[in-house]
Amino acid sequence: MRFQFRFLISIGSILVLNQCNPSYDPGTTEHIFKVTSQVNDERLLTADETPGDWLSYGRNYFEDRFSPLQQITIANIDRLGLAWSLNLGIKGALEATPLVVDGIMYVTGSWSEVFAIDARKGELLWKFDPKVPRIIGFKACCGSVNRGVALYRGMVYVGALDGRLIAIDAASGKLKWETITVDTTANYTITGAPRVVAGNVIIGNGGAEYGVRGYVSGYDAMTGEQKWRTYTVPGDPDLPFESKAMEEAAATWTGEWWKYGGGGTVWDAMAYDPDLDLLYVGVGNGSPWPRVYRSPEGGDNLYLSSILALDPQNGEIVWYYQTTPGDNWDYTATQHMILADLNIEGQKKKVIMQAPKNGFFYVLDRTNGDFISAESYVYVNWASGIDQQTGRPIENEWSRYETKDVQIFPSNVGGHNWQPMAYNPETGFVYIPSLDRSMVFGLDPDWKFDDGFGGVNWGTNRTAPNPEREVLEDASSPQPDPQGRLVAWDPINQKEAWSVAYHENWWNSGVLTTSGGLVFQGLCDGSFIAYDAKNGNKVWEINLRTGIMGSPVSFEIDGIQYISVAVGWGAWAGNGYQFTEYSYPGTVYTFTLGKNTPIPDYPMPDSTPRNLADFEFEADEEMLARGMTLYEKYCNHCHWDVARETVGVVPDLGYINQGTYNSFEAIVLEGLRSPNGMPNFKDLLTKEDVAEIKNYILASTYSRRIENE
Ligand code: HEC
Repeated sequence: MRFQFRFLISIGSILVLNQCNPSYDPGTTEHIFKVTSQVNDERLLTADETPGDWLSYGRNYFEDRFSPLQQITIANIDRLGLAWSLNLGIKGALEATPLVVDGIMYVTGSWSEVFAIDARKGELLWKFDPKVPRIIGFKACCGSVNRGVALYRGMVYVGALDGRLIAIDAASGKLKWETITVDTTANYTITGAPRVVAGNVIIGNGGAEYGVRGYVSGYDAMTGEQKWRTYTVPGDPDLPFESKAMEEAAATWTGEWWKYGGGGTVWDAMAYDPDLDLLYVGVGNGSPWPRVYRSPEGGDNLYLSSILALDPQNGEIVWYYQTTPGDNWDYTATQHMILADLNIEGQKKKVIMQAPKNGFFYVLDRTNGDFISAESYVYVNWASGIDQQTGRPIENEWSRYETKDVQIFPSNVGGHNWQPMAYNPETGFVYIPSLDRSMVFGLDPDWKFDDGFGGVNWGTNRTAPNPEREVLEDASSPQPDPQGRLVAWDPINQKEAWSVAYHENWWNSGVLTTSGGLVFQGLCDGSFIAYDAKNGNKVWEINLRTGIMGSPVSFEIDGIQYISVAVGWGAWAGNGYQFTEYSYPGTVYTFTLGKNTPIPDYPMPDSTPRNLADFEFEADEEMLARGMTLYEKYCNHCHWDVARETVGVVPDLGYINQGTYNSFEAIVLEGLRSPNGMPNFKDLLTKEDVAEIKNYILASTYSRRIENE
C-alpha cells in the first residue's frame, strides 16, 4: 500500500515526494520549512519542553533566559572551546539575541539585516537586507541596532529601523509581507525584537528623545493587518481620546504636552502570561526629559516609565504600575521583565520582576500590578527608597534639578539598560547587567521644541553644563566609582547575593544562565566570561576581540549543547560608549565542549595612520559658527568631534584626503557613499550649508595642526 502510494506520487512532482519523506538533510530548504512551520502557538507555549531550541527573544514567554540544558557544567567547562564562527561582514554594534530551531539560527545585525545560519556548520543560509535608508540612522538615538527576530509558522519577523514590520519566509529568506508601523514624518525607529502572542505580532518603537508619542501595536502574523494599537501617553485633549485609559492618563498631565509628543515609547521589553492571558510591555521616558518643560504644573504623566498589562487580543490596558512618576531623568521602564512564581512569606506569588533605569529592582504581583517590594540594585541618590505602602519613590527635594544642576545616580543610561537579565530558578537569583554611573542633570535654558527630522529634545544641558548654575555634587559615601557590575540579585529577600565589578570596561552585555550552574556574559573589551551561578567565581573566559553587547543563548543539536553569542561593536553604538578600538566586524561565535578552533583574526577596519587634512578654506567667524552648528546637528551624531585622533568605523572628517575633499558635496548631497552608511542629506541641507560645514571641518583641522606643531 505504502509502496503504491509512493509510486503514484513519484510521477507527480518532486516536491510532493519530498514532503512524504520524513527526514530531510539538515539545512536544506525542506528541512528549514518543516522545522520553522512547526513553531506555532503550541510550541511557543511549551518552549520549556524543547530546551534544545531558543524559540523567542527571552527563550520562553516568561522571558527568563534560563537554559535547562546541563551538558556544560562547572566541572567540565575548561573543555569549552570554539566550534565555529561566522563573520557576518557588517559593521557596527550587534545587540541581538539569536533564535535557534532545530539547528537553524536567526540573528540580526545593524541596519536590521537578518541572517539565517546553519548552526550545525556555521554556514550562512541566507541574508535578508531590508535596505533601510541610511538617513534613518539620524533618528536613532543609540545606533542603527537591532535586538532580534520572532519566529512563527514558517516566518521570521523583524522590526526594521525605519518603522517597517517585515515578515520573511524562514526557509527561503524571501519577503512575505511588510507594513509600515509608524508615521514616517515623525522621528520613530524600531530596534526591539517583535514577539508573537496568539497569532499577533507585537511591535513597539523608539524615538522619545526626538519628540514622538509612544505606542505598541498588534498585527495579524499571517497577513500583516493591524489588529490594535495602544498609545501609552495621551494626545491632544481637544480631540477624542482613543480609550478610557487615555482619558484617565490626560488628567495626570498639564500644559500642552502633546505638542512635544510626550514620549513613552515601547522600545524593548515584553513578556506574556498565557494563564492570565496578559501581555506585559515596558514604557519609556518622557519627552523632553525635564517634566517642567512638557507638563509645567507637574503630575505623574501616565503612563511614562510604567509597566502595562494588556489584553493581547485588543491591546486594552488591564493594569499599570508606574516606576518613576513624573519622569525627569530619562528613567525608562523598558528594561527586560521576567515572570516567575516565587515563594514569598510562605505564599506562592505570580510575580513580574524588573530592574528599570531608575535603579530599583521591583517585584510586583503580575495578576493585578500590586506592589510587593523594591530595593536599589545600584547606588541611587535621586530617591531615598520606595514607600512600601504606596509603591512610590521617595524623591530627594533637589532631584528635579530645577534650581541647581545636580549630579544624579543612576545616569540617564540607567542602573540597567536594554541588556537582558536572566533568572535561574535553581539558584533563585536574577542576574542583572548593571551600571554604576552618574550624570549632571540641569535644565537647558535655551531648549525649544525641535520637531524637525532627527530633532533632539533632551531639554537638559546634556552636552554643555550651564556656567551660570551651581552644580550640586553628590558628596556622600560610599559612592561607587563609575563602573559596570554583574549583580546576582535575590528577588525574594530583595538583596544582592554577589556581584562582579567591571572598572574600566564597564559596558557589560546581556546575560544567559543555565542549569549547568553557569552565568555567561560579555564585555565591551571582547571578554566572554562564564561564572559560577551560585557565587560569581569566574570559571571560564575567552577574548573575542570585538566588543560584546548582544545576549548569549544556549541550544542543542544532535544531543550536543552549544553556547552562541553575536558580537560586534562600533560607532552608532551610542553616545558615551564608543570604544572604537574594539570595532571588529559583526560575528557569531559558537562554543561547545571538546572543540578548540582558534579565534580567527578577522580584519580590522582600516587603521592605517592618516594625515590631518591640509586644504585651503575661506570663512569668517560667522560662517564658521554656522558651520559648527550644522555640523553638531547633522554630522557629529555619527562622525563625532573633528580631528579627535581615534580610528573608528565612521571616518573622522578631520582626515579627509584629496579625493574626498573634491567629492565632499557629492558625498553629502548626492548619496555617493550611501551604500556604506553615509546618509544622503539632499532634503535637509543646501550647497551653502555643506560649504559651511566643510569650512568648519577644515578650520578645526587647521587649529589642531597648529596645536600639534
Ligand atoms: C548616520 C550616520 C552618519 C551621519 C549622520 C553622517 N555621516 Fe558621513 N559618513 C557616514 C559613514 C558610515 C561614512 C563612511 C562611508 C564609507 O565607508 O564610504 C561616512 C563618510 C563620510 C565622508 C567621507 C569621509 C572619508 O574620509 O572617506 C564624508 C565627507 C562625510 N561622511 C560627511 C558627512 C557630513 C558633512 C555629515 C553631516 C552633514 C555626515 N557625514 C553625517 C555616516 C554618517
